[in-house]
Amino acid sequence: MPDDPYANPPRLPEDEVDLPTLLKGAGPLELEIGPGRGAFILERAAECPEHRLVGLEIRRKYACLVDAKLIELGMGERARVFAEDARLALPRMRPDGCLDRAFILFPDPWWKKKHQKRLVVVDPVIEEVGRLLRDDGELFVVTDVPERADQYEERLSAAPFLAPAGDGPRIDHNPYGTARTNREKHAERDGLPVYRLLYRRRPR
Ligand SMILES: C[S@@+](CC[C@H](N)C(=O)[O-])C[C@H]1O[C@@H](n2cnc3c(N)ncnc32)[C@H](O)[C@@H]1O
Repeated sequence: MPDDPYANPPRLPEDEVDLPTLLKGAGPLELEIGPGRGAFILERAAECPEHRLVGLEIRRKYACLVDAKLIELGMGERARVFAEDARLALPRMRPDGCLDRAFILFPDPWWKKKHQKRLVVVDPVIEEVGRLLRDDGELFVVTDVPERADQYEERLSAAPFLAPAGDGPRIDHNPYGTARTNREKHAERDGLPVYRLLYRRRPR
């Protein structure tokens, strides 16, 4: 049996995770849940050289490859991807209010009822993200599935600690520079619609 090249993925500390000291620097702290093949976190880190970014990716292979790429590009001290299930890692993260921004981009590729338990945009995760966001911090959720966008909007708008960034949460453009996820690049290339929701953490 060949050796598993992804047997030792980057992991977070097993107990409490102090986010501000996890990465070097003092710039804005951002979280991406499910970076997948990593185009967004790689491009965002390159575009915002002061920012610190943490990715949580459940697939060991992607976490290993994207984290190695960040290091290879010289950005590994302030941008990392850890092989973690966000649903388990978020409750260990501290302190409350430390995040400037959270990105959940094209999550939940699960359709079967038996896979419902894998969903990421669910109340416990939304609550943890809300706890970690600073006052007025941003939560950006994007999908290319219209029914999912409706579900997400209903769930996120019901969270008392979140407020739509504008008159409503839906925005028709990506407000974060030129960084795009792999999935968003495909959607743009194929001319497919993308649904974007932007919320702010209400002041505590
Ligand atoms: C549909 S893919 C989208 C990947 C990327 N965001 C993009 O837009 O190209 C969803 C990603 O979320 C990851 N994921 C799913 N559940 C997760 C969880 N509980 N914690 C961390 N990552 C998760 C998957 O492994 C996958 O890489």
